[in-house]
Amino acid sequence: MTMREKLELLERHRASSEVGGGAARLATQHAKGKLSARERLDLLLDDGSFVELDRFVTSRSAASSDDEASVFGDGVVTGYGRIDGRLVYVFSQDFTVFGGSLSEAHAEKICKVMDLAVRNGAPMIGLNDSGGARIQEGVVSLGGYADIFLRNTLASGVVPQISAILGPCAGGAVYSPAITDFVYMVRGTSYMFVTGPNVVKTVTHEDVTMEALGGADTHASVSGVAHFACDSEIACLQQIRDLFRFIPSNNLAESPRGSGTDPRDRRDEALLDIVPDNTNKPYDMHDVLRRIVDDGDFLEVHRDYGANIICGFAHLGSFGVGIVANQPAVLAGVLDIPASIKAARFIRFCDAFNIPIITFEDVPGFLPGVSQEHGGIIRHGAKLLYAYCEATVPKLTVITRKAYGGAYDVMSSKHIRGDYNVAWPTAEIAVMGAKGAVEILFKREIAESSNPESAMDAKVAEYSEQFANPYVAASRGYVDDVIDPRDTRPRLIDALETMRAKRDTNPPRKHGNIPL
Ligand code: HXC
Repeated sequence: MTMREKLELLERHRASSEVGGGAARLATQHAKGKLSARERLDLLLDDGSFVELDRFVTSRSAASSDDEASVFGDGVVTGYGRIDGRLVYVFSQDFTVFGGSLSEAHAEKICKVMDLAVRNGAPMIGLNDSGGARIQEGVVSLGGYADIFLRNTLASGVVPQISAILGPCAGGAVYSPAITDFVYMVRGTSYMFVTGPNVVKTVTHEDVTMEALGGADTHASVSGVAHFACDSEIACLQQIRDLFRFIPSNNLAESPRGSGTDPRDRRDEALLDIVPDNTNKPYDMHDVLRRIVDDGDFLEVHRDYGANIICGFAHLGSFGVGIVANQPAVLAGVLDIPASIKAARFIRFCDAFNIPIITFEDVPGFLPGVSQEHGGIIRHGAKLLYAYCEATVPKLTVITRKAYGGAYDVMSSKHIRGDYNVAWPTAEIAVMGAKGAVEILFKREIAESSNPESAMDAKVAEYSEQFANPYVAASRGYVDDVIDPRDTRPRLIDALETMRAKRDTNPPRKHGNIPL
């Protein structure tokens, strides 16, 4: 064969590698409202940046090149590309080839890009659309999954790992996305479950739809498995690109800086009026956050799960930061099981990737109750405490109102290595709220008084005056300063600037034993 003939053959092979499972199956995919594996990559990556690897890999179970099983690529498109010019490694499962199921060769392709991502310090993004283990390949495909799980685990905390679920994801296959840092799902077309509705019906006699059992909203608001529920695949891929404005490429790289156009010394008058005078009235902590971060631009993570705590990314004076904030507008901002789990995982992501953590605190304590105690609020609350304690990134805390009881300690207090802790004049740093304290301390006195109601009011006022303020903590140095709320932004930015070279370590050990 001449060189020209060989080039023509190469072109034919390349064209055939793009066909996947054929036009009919692609039409079915589109009819379900789903994009093809390559269309998804086009939307995810910067234009023309995708470089494909292993396009000529075929299934090991194909008897010959004429066998239907011998499809170039074997059901997954892998390679690398750019997001905002930054290198990322990707795999995108092709549902038109054996339902995107995972064969030996398919798994090897994924493992190859995962290894490259770690070696070259670039994030790994997986676009999942798969019927699970390739049934024809049996245990070999199960081995392929295990090879991926191991790599997910070893890459954790080294490079960010992101999973988009864009179709079925069932059985043990769900555990690879579950190990990754951020899981995106699409309403109506993506599902995650260990066993589907039919098996559920047989085993537990429960009737449940795919969507209710393992759809995007279920996982984003009930189970917490998904961090983002998106309305369409296009929105999902766009939202993944958006995340890259805030996350670094690896654990040794700096986070991307913001535009820096919002003035660093900007004060905000409205911050004076957000916290209501009545300490039992709620307010929306989002209003506080948006007025403080650069350009009001806040990317919230896990928005619909454990909404009594807010987690997300922003820039502050152009520095990338992670924000953890109690939300008084939901359950009074109390710490319960979902809130503890959600914030603990977010804090650990930030710490692993050198993203400073800013905590906004207004918390009445941990949620009492039988279901919380029996559900393990002690164990789960300890996760949050542990995550804050072990974090060595810059930790800044603003107490806007309540900092009661154990929650005061947990929420990035000075005692657990908070670097810069300030309080607004509205802060109440105490063992408990005034009413609760008075009921315990002056129970007999109030009961014996001629007018118990007014005796109670007087004692509450006295207690509030004495303890429910930031000055007792400030007198001990437990908060570094009591500040004018309008100055919060410039104060935080200045403090962040001082911590750019912060060095702190934990004792050498194999690993700690976070209460899982
Ligand atoms: C081989 C598969 C396949 C699989 C689907 N296909 N799943 N081929 N191995 N696991 C093929 C189908 O034969 C079909 O081929 C094509 O993919 C599309 O499948 P359909 O059923 O037509 O699509 P749809 O109606 O959309 O249903 C999708 C589905 C269903 C819900 C995923 O296919 C399904 O239930 N598949 C089996 C799921 C499963 O039980 N997987 C094993 C789980 S255990 P043609 O030629 O007709 O296009 C597991 C273990 C992981 O994964 C272990 C990790 C530890």
